[in-house]
Amino acid sequence: MAKFRTLDDLGDLTGKVALVRVDLNLPMQEGSVTDDTRVRAAAPTILELASKGAKVLLLAHFGRPKGEKVSTMSVSMTLDAVQAVLGKEVMFVPEVAGDVVKQAVSILRPGDIAMLENTRFWKGEEKNDPDLAKAIAANGDIYVNDAFSAAHRAHASTEGLAHILPAYAGRSMEAELKALDAALGTPVRPVAAVVGGAKVSSKLDVLTHLVTQVDHLIIGGGMANTFLAARGVNVGKSLCEHDLAATAEAILEAADKAGCTVHLPYDVVVAKEFAANPASLRTCNVHEVAADEMILDIGPQAVEALADVLKTCRTLVWNGPLGAFEIEPFDAATVALARSAAALSKEGVLTSVAGGGDTVAALNHAGVAADFTYISTAGGAFLEWMEGKELPGVKALETA
Ligand code: 3PG
Repeated sequence: MAKFRTLDDLGDLTGKVALVRVDLNLPMQEGSVTDDTRVRAAAPTILELASKGAKVLLLAHFGRPKGEKVSTMSVSMTLDAVQAVLGKEVMFVPEVAGDVVKQAVSILRPGDIAMLENTRFWKGEEKNDPDLAKAIAANGDIYVNDAFSAAHRAHASTEGLAHILPAYAGRSMEAELKALDAALGTPVRPVAAVVGGAKVSSKLDVLTHLVTQVDHLIIGGGMANTFLAARGVNVGKSLCEHDLAATAEAILEAADKAGCTVHLPYDVVVAKEFAANPASLRTCNVHEVAADEMILDIGPQAVEALADVLKTCRTLVWNGPLGAFEIEPFDAATVALARSAAALSKEGVLTSVAGGGDTVAALNHAGVAADFTYISTAGGAFLEWMEGKELPGVKALETA
């Protein structure tokens, strides 16, 4: 694993200004934050820096305002949630650089926290403009990046600043990198990956990379249908990217060459309509799907076989649900396999790392998120990591 400076490398910071990149891109409904997981992830870093005497300036983006000042995308929308999690007052500063920030810093006492405005209100942010990074850096002494979930963006606040100020990984970034290294960097073998979700096209690079890294690749969700169809299975009305048959074949061949076993379901749960507990619901062998039926989940026999596969593995990386988990009973396979993985993790025989998009929602739905070894707060960044890509925000923190 590459080396990073962490908060352990920092002594007393009394009077110093720490610019801390966090991810406050939080889900909101009617003006209120509906999930504060990312704030809770960043809180230890913020509070540790404050307790070392730093004046802490939070930097974050919120939404995609594309260089314009859009009032509904002010990061101050998250202020109440941040103060509630930190249990401290946080000053809001409507700028990221210049005299307004300088003045705020002069008012703050050691240990105080301020939140700067949405970095994406300035065009230079997404362009990774060195002038914007320098202007932000002018009001700080050190830079701490605790936003792994934004580390796939090479922006001024996620990448540029790390080259200007002494840069450190925050606690959440550190934990994230350690977990990801344990999952795919230097994992204990055998390694299994579960990849689910609707479309092969959205996870082509993930699948292509994973077959060269893991011993078992478990494919579920709509994307399994594309693989089944490529193998000549009639998938009826199922969601399926028939035009990607050759791509699916190529992935299967690459897996074969690399010694990776790909697991596709051999029994499935089908229905004629996508609705909760439909009358047409039945479980059948993959070769018995009727022309007017859709595959909506993998079947119980396949789940049992997959649970047995997990028992032989020491490491698991999970991204995406196995079926249409939002609607019952098509959540059954995801819930059952997630429970098996959670039980093995709890016993200490499996290191399980999950992340990306719907995954955390699916594991929460299964009631097992707490038993996984590590759950990433990242969506897109987790996927890019699973694709084997270097994340610019992480790369910039590496020390020689
Ligand atoms: C996220 O929500 O996944 C991160 O904050 C990145 O957001 P972005 O996709 O708008 O860059």
